[in-house]
Amino acid sequence: MSDSSRHPFLHGLSKHRGAPPTVVVIFGASGDLTARKLIPAVYNLGVDNLLPTDFHLVGYGRKEIPDEEFRSLAVDSIREFSRRALQEEVWDRIAANTTYVAGGYDDLAAFDRLARHIEAIERQVGREVQVLFYISTPPSVFAPILENLGAVGLAQKHLGAAHHAKVIIEKPFGRDLTSAQSLNTTIRSVFREHQVYRIDHYLGKETVQDLLVQRFANAIFEPLWNRNYIDSVQITVAEEVGVGTRGGYYEQSGALRDMIQNHTMQLLALTAMEPPVSLDAEAIRDEKVKLLKAIQPLRLGLGGDVARAQYASGMRDGQPAKGYLEEGGIAPDSNTETYVALRLSINNWRWQGVPFYLRSGKRMARRVSEIAINFKQPPGTLFAGSEQFSLAGNTLAFQIQPDEGLSLILNAKIPGLQTRMQPVKMNFRYATTFGSNTPEAYERLVLDAMVGDGTLFIRGDEAETSWRLCTPLLEHWEASGREGMDSYPSGGWGPPSADALLAENNHRWR
Ligand code: NDP
Ligand code: BG6
Repeated sequence: MSDSSRHPFLHGLSKHRGAPPTVVVIFGASGDLTARKLIPAVYNLGVDNLLPTDFHLVGYGRKEIPDEEFRSLAVDSIREFSRRALQEEVWDRIAANTTYVAGGYDDLAAFDRLARHIEAIERQVGREVQVLFYISTPPSVFAPILENLGAVGLAQKHLGAAHHAKVIIEKPFGRDLTSAQSLNTTIRSVFREHQVYRIDHYLGKETVQDLLVQRFANAIFEPLWNRNYIDSVQITVAEEVGVGTRGGYYEQSGALRDMIQNHTMQLLALTAMEPPVSLDAEAIRDEKVKLLKAIQPLRLGLGGDVARAQYASGMRDGQPAKGYLEEGGIAPDSNTETYVALRLSINNWRWQGVPFYLRSGKRMARRVSEIAINFKQPPGTLFAGSEQFSLAGNTLAFQIQPDEGLSLILNAKIPGLQTRMQPVKMNFRYATTFGSNTPEAYERLVLDAMVGDGTLFIRGDEAETSWRLCTPLLEHWEASGREGMDSYPSGGWGPPSADALLAENNHRWR
């Protein structure tokens, strides 16, 4: 018996993988994401020897950029953003096969030129190459790019063969249910689902993948992972930064679209889903969809399941910081939320009656993404007569970022002659155990797409199911203007209305 068949989780999460000869084409290659994440990801895969021998990188965009200049911009971005310093010999190997094609996203003739460019690469390699398209443009041009890939036959390239064309699509995947459905329709008119990789970079984070291992590779958790032992679950994705220079984008988006519908809901799905029958991509995605479908519609309006707010001015690093309404590109009467808290009920056998609290906001006290599983209190009567009786509920907290790790809060006796108790924390920290130079999410995701592993990507029905939950809330907000919009000081932990959501069940945010 092979090692991997005895240890299915080892097999699933750390496959020894080799990608076939591949051309990665980045649409929007002069953009911010390409510079900050994609080029450094490709470079770091090169450092780790994870790129195929015949690897080609093609940038595409409207701006005319000579090959040499594109390569030079790429070196700059590695110098500035890569987690590892530039090693000339690694970059030189990638640079030798790095080119740029200029053209519009709705320009069929330019896509034809791109197809010829790829054919020339194929001739140079001397065998079939897989093409991976990475759509890293604003969403307004997702559809024309997809349609043109279909029109010039690139989407169908090698379809039916092992190394068919693939496409990675950046977020945002729609802005409500209707637009997500429409984008799915466009995608399906051109690509088959198994060719499509909808990205959510949270799934590429090491600790998010570890969630599956912690849950399903440790026998002690599963028996407790249900309504009998768990009192509530809190998922926090807090950011210290404000909207910065992205006011134009953010004003049209808001925290629900930007962080909850995608990243936070993914954390919820992985935390609460049933054990999948295997670590096969479809098995995991089936369970996530089942879980998302079991979430009850949100109760809207006063006394409902939602709090929303905008950050007010405050202090940051000892300096005064602007409130959201004073930021550049923001309407003075904007009703875009920078903070959302939700109370969700999951109507299934496992979670009936357990509240799931989700919150995400900008300009909060500190950057932290965490999943906290709060267990029920034990019957405390045994210790009721002790001198200091402060029995805490046990909490298992997955720290997604920063300071990645896992902690368990237990009650312990304070040494001494009296019976006094104190909550204590058992900590596991990634950096201490494994060192801190872990791969960036985009490295993992680009490699997964190259080898055809869709496990850490969003399936079309999954995106729609999540939008189905969020869209009535967006429509409700649309209709209510600023009514119910709370505020919180910059550098705080969110608005009073979010605390009130939990107080109804005698809960508090951690
Ligand atoms: P940019 O605004 O930097 O745009 C990328 C490129 O697309 C530009 O360099 C430009 O290239 C082209 N472009 C820009 N605006 C338009 C337009 N209105 N119409 C057509 N083409 C345009 O985007 P980012 O790189 O920041 O983001 C790319 C995608 O990734 C987006 O969908 C974004 O939501 C997503 N994303 C970005 C993150 C980030 O940190 N930047 C994080 C997570 C997701 P040219 O003019 O050469 O054609
Ligand atoms: C992006 C959002 O998807 O995620 C940003 O558009 C947000 O607004 C970012 O800042 C947070 O990602 P991370 O990996 O820094 O937690």
